[in-house]
Amino acid sequence: KSIKVFAPATVANVACGFDVIGLALDNPGDEIEMSLSDTPGIKILGINGADLPLEPSKNVCGVALQALMQKYEDKNVGFEMTITKNIQPGSGIGSSAASAAGAVVAANILLGEPFAKEKLVRFAMEGERLASGSAHADNVAPAILGGFTLVRSYTPVDIVALPTPPNLWVTVIHPQIEVKTSDAREILKQKVLMKDAIKQWGNVAALVAGLYRNDYALIGRSLEDVIVEPVRSILIPAFHDLKIKCKEAGALGGGISGSGPSVFMLSTSEETARIVANVMHEVYAPLGVDFKVHVSPIN
Ligand code: HSE
Repeated sequence: KSIKVFAPATVANVACGFDVIGLALDNPGDEIEMSLSDTPGIKILGINGADLPLEPSKNVCGVALQALMQKYEDKNVGFEMTITKNIQPGSGIGSSAASAAGAVVAANILLGEPFAKEKLVRFAMEGERLASGSAHADNVAPAILGGFTLVRSYTPVDIVALPTPPNLWVTVIHPQIEVKTSDAREILKQKVLMKDAIKQWGNVAALVAGLYRNDYALIGRSLEDVIVEPVRSILIPAFHDLKIKCKEAGALGGGISGSGPSVFMLSTSEETARIVANVMHEVYAPLGVDFKVHVSPIN
């Protein structure tokens, strides 16, 4: 029996919710094809679309799956998988998270679903630990649960699925420069001023309220990050220009996608999301930096 799982790209942080809020895109996504094997353990047969290690202990799919196997009763279970990467590593739209999430979801289905989704998030977080040195859950949680998710707590892991308003579209620009998540975390300050914390948790709470009420204006006002974005935005060419022009074109707002270099914008229709995509092209074309733009609903 073999299974193929689609593992979507995700936008972590969603501006104000550093390490706690994330959303899943409809596209792009990685594909994990997996089957049970008579040989115990994990075998990665091949990786299409990226140059990544086949050795399970060095691969995010491998370590996520190892975490699952440690909690599974039958220690002789074996898996074979082929990974197709459609999300470029280092892009800021949850490339490692998608693969890790896809691997544990596929394995869980093949085993007859012994694990709840929250457990799968916990396993997939081990992939994030390998990829970035930090086991954050704000990409793997939406990749597994879909839509918007909130990490209420890391110890213990407590994931809350949030509602997705019906008319929300995402435009993402991915400048083809690499920003390693580990580096983008290294440069962050370890202390936060009380006045900034107050603004930030006000925004996080209002974003969640906006999602429950389908209040797009409130969602737009809440897409403000006064803690992480001021530090990381220096790594992204034309970040402020991009943000201003996309909002002028009708986007509700946006910010850095995950740890960057991708930048995301939310809009209330596909039409606006595509206009925003054109604006991104106009801002980036003169810079001489290669880039890709994706337009997607939240799914
Ligand atoms: N919350 C993480 C960070 C996401 O911003 O470092 C990384 O994709």
